[in-house]
Amino acid sequence: NQKTLILGIETSCDETAAAVVENGTVIRSSAVASQIEVHRRFGGVVPEIASRHHVDQITVICEEALSKSGVAWEDLDGIAVTQGPGLIGALLVGVNAAKALAYAHQLPLIPVHHITGHIYANRIVRELHFPLIALVVSGGHTELVHMKEHGSYEVIGTTRDDAAGEAFDKVARTLGLPYPGGPEIDRLAKEGSPVIDFPRAWLEEGSLDFSFSGLKSAVINYVHNEQQRGHKLNHADIAASFQESVSEVLVKKTMMAAERVHAKQILVAGGVSANSKIRLEIEEAARTRSIPLTIPPLALCTDNAAMIAASGTIGFLKGTRADLSLNGRANLNI
Ligand code: KG4
Ligand code: ZN
Repeated sequence: NQKTLILGIETSCDETAAAVVENGTVIRSSAVASQIEVHRRFGGVVPEIASRHHVDQITVICEEALSKSGVAWEDLDGIAVTQGPGLIGALLVGVNAAKALAYAHQLPLIPVHHITGHIYANRIVRELHFPLIALVVSGGHTELVHMKEHGSYEVIGTTRDDAAGEAFDKVARTLGLPYPGGPEIDRLAKEGSPVIDFPRAWLEEGSLDFSFSGLKSAVINYVHNEQQRGHKLNHADIAASFQESVSEVLVKKTMMAAERVHAKQILVAGGVSANSKIRLEIEEAARTRSIPLTIPPLALCTDNAAMIAASGTIGFLKGTRADLSLNGRANLNI
């Protein structure tokens, strides 16, 4: 019963994070330094500022993760790091820290795709059963991933324009809400009703792809038209109606995908899976079809390093290794 102990490092966007995970399932420690407050006044993540903060935080966060885990450097089996996709300057900070630590402590270096990290956050909660469908919804991604076994990923649906989280953030901005907009819309929607008929982008018959830019424009146009007519806007109803449209499309397409591959499990991952309406709707839909559903707790839905260590554990066991020429990649296929 050999333990696998992996240090994970994540710096793809605005969280500097490090974590030690045992056997891909048990969090021994998890440290996250969020930059949300820093970027809020700009209404979004400013890449150059993100990089600088990562540089400030990375050493402290890695040290913190290790000391809290009670694991000694020499007892680690490897260092897993997010290689991409993400902001290139941000990624480079994590990749270079991982390379330096791997070199200093003579440990294997394991490159991790950020999305597989979000997916593997689920394995910290429950063992995975294949085939499965993972719905990955974040600020940068909207993907339906079919997995037949550990470490195997087939993207069977993706967004043709905006990511779901991006739509939440842009609509929130239109309503004058602070960044990040997702949690704000979620909160506001609870005070309203989905009475406005915003469009649902189903695309071609049977398509598992998504499109959110039409919905985003519809909300913006609605707001402008109402203002022009001198009507008072009901922000809560707008939030609830927008959220209902996103939720309905995400849930129906996920169920379509699950039925198509005869999924034994559905996973939800990424920052948008924190959304209370989407959680409720997808739980109900999965229960109706008797398909087991896993959604990680909130802290594991948003960016963190435990998920990177969890995915990195699979990579480690499969023999995935990088050498010291490893580079960050802003665009990286799963
Ligand atoms: O996974 P994540 O932390 O970072 C990326 O990899 O993008 O996701 C961040 C995204 C943001 O767009 C944020 O607005 C959205 O997740 N988000 C939410 C909620 N909480 C975070 N969207 C809808 N409802 C929420 N409760
Ligand atoms: Zn993410």
